[in-house]
Amino acid sequence: MKDISLNGRVGVIHLSNPPLNSINLQLRLDLVSKLEEANTSEAIDAIVLYGTEEMFSCGADIDEFFSGEAGRDPNLPMLVELLQNSSKPVVAAVGKQCMGGGLELALACHARVFRADAVISFPEIHLGLIPGAGGTQLLPRAVGLSKAVSMILGGRPCAVKSLEETQLVSRLSDNVLTDAIAFANQLAEGEPIVPIQDLKVDKVNSDLFLRWVSNTVRSQVRRSPSSPAAVTAIEASLGDYKKGLEVEKKLFWERMSSTESEALRYGFKAERECWKVPGLSVDKTNVPTIEKVGVVGAGTMGSGIAINFLSVGIPVVLLEQKQDALQRGIDTIHSHYEKLVAKSKLTDEQSKQCLNLLTPSLSYEDMRDVDLAIEAVFEDMSIKESVFRTLSETVRENAILASNTSTLDLNKIAQFCRHPERVVGLHFFSPANIMKLLEVVRADLTSDAVLSAAMKLAKRIKKTAVVSGVCDGFIGNRMINEYLRIAGLMVEAGASPWEIDSALEEWGMAMGPFRMMDLAGNDVGMAIRKRTYIEKPEVKFSSIPDRVCELGRLGQKSGKGWYQYVPGQRGGIPDDEIDRLIQDVRESNGVVARPFSKDDIIERCIYALVNEGARILEEGIALRASDIDVVYTHGYGFPASRGGPMHYANQKGLVVVKQKLEIFANETNGDANFWSPSKLISDLAQQGHHFDHVGGL
Ligand code: NAI
Repeated sequence: MKDISLNGRVGVIHLSNPPLNSINLQLRLDLVSKLEEANTSEAIDAIVLYGTEEMFSCGADIDEFFSGEAGRDPNLPMLVELLQNSSKPVVAAVGKQCMGGGLELALACHARVFRADAVISFPEIHLGLIPGAGGTQLLPRAVGLSKAVSMILGGRPCAVKSLEETQLVSRLSDNVLTDAIAFANQLAEGEPIVPIQDLKVDKVNSDLFLRWVSNTVRSQVRRSPSSPAAVTAIEASLGDYKKGLEVEKKLFWERMSSTESEALRYGFKAERECWKVPGLSVDKTNVPTIEKVGVVGAGTMGSGIAINFLSVGIPVVLLEQKQDALQRGIDTIHSHYEKLVAKSKLTDEQSKQCLNLLTPSLSYEDMRDVDLAIEAVFEDMSIKESVFRTLSETVRENAILASNTSTLDLNKIAQFCRHPERVVGLHFFSPANIMKLLEVVRADLTSDAVLSAAMKLAKRIKKTAVVSGVCDGFIGNRMINEYLRIAGLMVEAGASPWEIDSALEEWGMAMGPFRMMDLAGNDVGMAIRKRTYIEKPEVKFSSIPDRVCELGRLGQKSGKGWYQYVPGQRGGIPDDEIDRLIQDVRESNGVVARPFSKDDIIERCIYALVNEGARILEEGIALRASDIDVVYTHGYGFPASRGGPMHYANQKGLVVVKQKLEIFANETNGDANFWSPSKLISDLAQQGHHFDHVGGL
């Protein structure tokens, strides 16, 4: 931390831990010593606490949650108390952003001058925590109960301007540091001020309001596991401040040691880690920049993919074979921007700017000057071959060629091109303009520079990118295919699709396997299975999913699949026809249905993901277990509060997981090939390690 700078008789303490001023141990130690120095200095009458124009402080240093330094003295609550007890007035000069523990420091000061466009937040809820240094006690006193509930439970940024009339804001300013110094001088001269901890929270209707909030959060506890604790802590702010702090402290540490918070903190770190590709040797000047993109195929995926680029100002050539297909793509893109304008998320002008960047085309000639061409045509190798051969002859020598294929061999596709080292997979998820996940597929010959460019581009279009090697289905679909297969086998053995879906949905999956199949289209799944019947005849399937498809029950798109879909009604309704079909198959296969408990259903489905995930890790298809978890929490509706399948297995313990897999493998008529624990699980279990030991997080 810099020395205290003197401005007349005001000492300015600079919070300094670039780039975000996270409150790590060093910063805490420095702040304690600077506060003591300022309080004892005869040259100082008042103090200003300042970060930068952009960032006061982002709050706790999350890395310390992993290293165990977060709670080390002097901890954040101690700093809050020190500021509150400072014998000289302290004014927080808050720049554009202030979050979490940073906001608690600001609340502890005697007054606060905010930049007029400042945005503040308590994001702790997203990590399964609650503010733990007085935030739940101070914010309600400063802004009132209702706003505090909305900020602490929502975890979203809030413009300080909207809180201008509250006790939080002493002043708004376009020149925070200068104005904070002027204000500190006034306080030193005796201008009276009531510290926030001495204010009372308005109790009118508070009981009714908090009861309503409590009931609401109870139904959302899986998505936001710390909400009930946050409500209890906020409720305590209606009473004595010190007692409220005790309540907050107890709840904070309970949350900190909860498995949900552990998983959410792990997820936060995993999302930062997945961008790192070890061993890439890239001369930064060699990484191609992408200023213009071509998309071949304007269907479901192609039009969504194009929107990603248009929305961040990158021109797109959208290529189709026929005018009607091209027009459908254009219409989809136009309708996307019209909806955004209707919802006031974009202005008319902004929408026009995006659309002006679109060049619809029926000719490869228009692709000549693109820096990246992404293929999103039918999933058929011979069509892909013709597209890639033409692209390879048309685009500039150094352009990158990408495929959005979900199942085809990218190494084979690369061989159709003059420069296979410039071929990469960009596997978007549907809807491509909404889903955050992008699997960046590294083929055997993909150059490091091309992989780096793809990762850089992913960031630019605001995706979360995970690198995958080439295999059938890459990381996500390879695992989900096993999960769906196991669910199908369970139905044949005795469980109903509705039992399986509801067990997994209650457990936290956004959608059970049968609802998921209905959404994706049962014909899509059948096409994948048919290929597997030929390529891997040893894999065990139930015939029920194919029979469902053969009945024309393709899923949501045909009004019925595993479920029946009634227009205007959300979700599907279980259907007798499916029950009869299942019964028929069981009878003709001589299967006596047996019951499956909820736990059994969950273990079979989730451990299927885990065992296949471990094989993926073992084969080096995924760089680290946490990348697999990012794929699952971002692309497949896996509950973030469980971290992802690999983290869940770590929490259970790999010895336990291995034992369970062995039980499944040894069942009569079981699927021993699949259920036998992967070598990686066996080795790690024996060594007492978990998945994080591989690739590291
Ligand atoms: P789609 O059938 O909606 O669109 C394909 C488009 O490609 C059609 O508009 C068609 O006219 C066009 N096309 C076909 N041959 C062409 C050619 N030679 N030149 C130019 N355009 C041509 O298919 P969808 O769903 O968009 O899938 C495209 C690709 O994306 C496939 O490889 C698929 O496996 C992959 N994918 C699909 C996902 C999905 O959920 N639909 C998810 C992730 C990847």
